[in-house]
Amino acid sequence: MPNDPSEPARSPSGGARRVVMSRKGPMLVEGPVEVELEDGSVVSSDRFQVALCTCRRSRRYPWCDTSHRDRG
Ligand code: FES
Repeated sequence: MPNDPSEPARSPSGGARRVVMSRKGPMLVEGPVEVELEDGSVVSSDRFQVALCTCRRSRRYPWCDTSHRDRG
């Protein structure tokens, strides 16, 4: 199970997978990743680093499209 805390996530290089949190931006996750959405659907990305939207403003949710940035 992907979210089982007894099984630490591993990066492709074998080390612990790192997730970078920021207060006003996306959550950066080492890829490739699969993201399960609230409706049970799963989306995936093969990028080496993935920006997950935490503000819910992205038009490409769950991927960050920089809509979190203040405009004006
Ligand atoms: S965090 Fe970037 S669009 Fe939401």
